[in-house]
Amino acid sequence: MKRFHKTLAAVLGMTMLTIVITGCGGNRKNDRQIIRIGHNQATDHPTHIALTAFEEFIDSKLGDKYDVEVYPSELLGSQTDMVQLTQTGAIDFCVASNSILETFSDNYTLFNLPYLFASTEAYHASMDDVEVIGPIFESTKKAGFEAVTWIDAGTRNFYTVSTPIESVADLKGLKIRVQQSPTNVEMMRLLGGSATPMGFGEVYTALQSKVIDGAENNEMALTSNGHGDVCKHYSYDMHQMIPDILIGNCAFLDELPKEERAIFEEGFEIVNKVEREEWVKAVEKAKDKAANEQGVNFYYPDTKPFQEICAPMHEKLLKQYPDLRPIYEKIEQYNTEYPSVAE
Ligand code: GCU
Repeated sequence: MKRFHKTLAAVLGMTMLTIVITGCGGNRKNDRQIIRIGHNQATDHPTHIALTAFEEFIDSKLGDKYDVEVYPSELLGSQTDMVQLTQTGAIDFCVASNSILETFSDNYTLFNLPYLFASTEAYHASMDDVEVIGPIFESTKKAGFEAVTWIDAGTRNFYTVSTPIESVADLKGLKIRVQQSPTNVEMMRLLGGSATPMGFGEVYTALQSKVIDGAENNEMALTSNGHGDVCKHYSYDMHQMIPDILIGNCAFLDELPKEERAIFEEGFEIVNKVEREEWVKAVEKAKDKAANEQGVNFYYPDTKPFQEICAPMHEKLLKQYPDLRPIYEKIEQYNTEYPSVAE
């Protein structure tokens, strides 16, 4: 059944993509300009709920002029495809993981560092601070897109089909899917696993056919993406808090009249706010479903050894990109203010 859904989604996706790329769908409907937003989550996911709230908000304020259309489930392609479509203006917005953006601007590498944030509070405070995100969010303007808000994607942890990860040694030799980012590949190398980068949409089949032994993600991947049907061991090693980023085409944003731009900015804040509220509820539900319906076991390994192995990545990055140091130091201040509860 899952495979049928995936095939159907792929066929629909190709059709949608062709319509968008060739412009056959048109950019106007009933005299309103169509605004296309793509993402890779299902319709029950906080990201989709937040973007639907954005759609409703823009409709209530500027509905005579704009018609927002939200395309979930990779209907407009993988995140990498969607970033490129946003860059060229074939679509107006998309949600991409910060990991993917690392290949478009080195600055994004910072938020992909393992154990960058000491706690969820430190993570949220950093991402809410314009001094932290400003220089990074604007760094792709020349490439044609900019970040307009961030979206919480929780904490990433390892999960596996057969062997639970209770210590770093358990990762040895395991093929683990990671996102397509050099930082994630390096992290897996240090931890002793074998990194297998692939797009999110391919992970379920790769797990099911045992092409990979496991993956790493937040709890929603177990339920909303069905990975918990195959992987019965989820270990809270807490290696990354990687935000998702809503990016927009610069030409579209820059051409908005001032008053309309202000309304869009209000809309971006709604995306952030609604998603964060929904996220807390969704993760609780996902944990409950994974444990009680899918039979997933949760493990709580000592995170210190994982952290120590990954620690050299921080200094290495700062040496390579010294401009990121003031931002890193700001994050460290939040880490001191909101330390890990485990300490
Ligand atoms: C999370 C994240 C997505 C990302 C996915 C992945 O679900 O929210 O943006 O694509 O992880 O691992 O690829």
